[in-house]
Amino acid sequence: MTVLITGGAGFIGSHCCVSFLEAGHDIVVLDNLSNASSLSLERVAAITGRKVSFVVGDIRDQAEVEEVLHRYKCTAVVHFAGLKSVGESTKMPISYYDNNVVGTLRLLSAMDNAGVRQMIFSSSATVYGEPQFLPLTEDHPTSAVNPYGRTKLMIEEMLRDVAASDPNWRFGILRYFNPVGAHDSGLIGENPLGIPNNLMPFITQVADGRREQLAVFGNDYETADGTGVRDYIHVSDLVDGHLRAHEVLAEGAAPSNCFTVNLGTGNGYSVLEMVRAFERASNKEIGFSFSPRREGDVAECYAHTERAEQLLNWKAKRDLDAMCRDTWNWVCKNPAGYAAEAAE
Ligand code: NAD
Ligand code: UD1
Repeated sequence: MTVLITGGAGFIGSHCCVSFLEAGHDIVVLDNLSNASSLSLERVAAITGRKVSFVVGDIRDQAEVEEVLHRYKCTAVVHFAGLKSVGESTKMPISYYDNNVVGTLRLLSAMDNAGVRQMIFSSSATVYGEPQFLPLTEDHPTSAVNPYGRTKLMIEEMLRDVAASDPNWRFGILRYFNPVGAHDSGLIGENPLGIPNNLMPFITQVADGRREQLAVFGNDYETADGTGVRDYIHVSDLVDGHLRAHEVLAEGAAPSNCFTVNLGTGNGYSVLEMVRAFERASNKEIGFSFSPRREGDVAECYAHTERAEQLLNWKAKRDLDAMCRDTWNWVCKNPAGYAAEAAE
């Protein structure tokens, strides 16, 4: 019983490898390393004391995926592989539809041919668009305002159609809120290339002196302090949610063969609250100035967590201070991410 983890060398995927290996599962990672270093998997092996089977490959290569599923006798897939930058998706929509939508289609075809019919898919709270009510339940209407979000919605629809066609398929669609943090060993974490788009990696680069100050996008939202509110979730909690989803699917314990679940904490924190929490964790001052709102941003976004609690018996445990502390620990131990070691 081996689980194929696509995109397993990336930020969330590498933490998922740790979680699954520590739970006693056998895994094989397939990643084309377009946004990752294979060193993350060496670190996963160091943390868990277990060897990680790794194939450098692309989910769009159906024949190779099929061969890997057969060779490792896989029974399930956890599917992280894909491109994830909203801004980039508006400039390179073809790449986004190709990697995310076509890639998932090829992966499904390979699974179908290999007789592997269980998948967990990384979706995003971005599919809720502008919130009509809060907290966001899984039944909130969906909409997408950029190609990245549309790829997630299209894939969700594809999976529901496949599930409806044959009860032997089993899907867990997990909608992540804002994953941050790092493994508490400081050995694996987020390794953004170029200028980070997301808040937490940007704050860390101000704290360690790589960037002068944070631009806070908007201080005129209808929130307590005027800045945007999000549901940040520790990546280690997030991947434990995947482990539970895998178990529920494997046991056939879900009420249907395709479920959709939010993975968030249910708590919203503003940009300024994040800045203060990171200052506490790092003992560094985070300089910032207010900038205009970023196009496409919503004022507030946080999860309704009841379905995850009931269906998965899972709840996020780590608080904002732990998220900031573990991120800072990772950055201090790896000031150049995986790059320094890769260059040796
Ligand atoms: P990441 O970029 O660190 O990981 C994605 C991995 O997939 C990378 O290792 C990359 O090399 C690999 N990959 C990309 N295209 C591939 C392809 N065609 N074939 C094989 N490998 C490929 O990103 P992440 O933050 O770990 O995100 C993982 C998943 O979760 C993505 O699908 C992303 O859209 C989704 N997600 C992420 C967030 C977030 O804030 N990080 C939020 C919601 C959803
Ligand atoms: C962004 C994406 C979303 C994606 C998510 C996780 C956009 C419009 N949305 O969401 O689709 O699913 O990342 O990858 O890109 N902020 C600043 N200064 C910064 C960066 C961010 O003030 O330099 C603010 C934002 O305005 C927001 C909050 O910090 O209020 C969080 O931003 P971010 O980390 O980019 O996440 P999202 O906006 O939730």
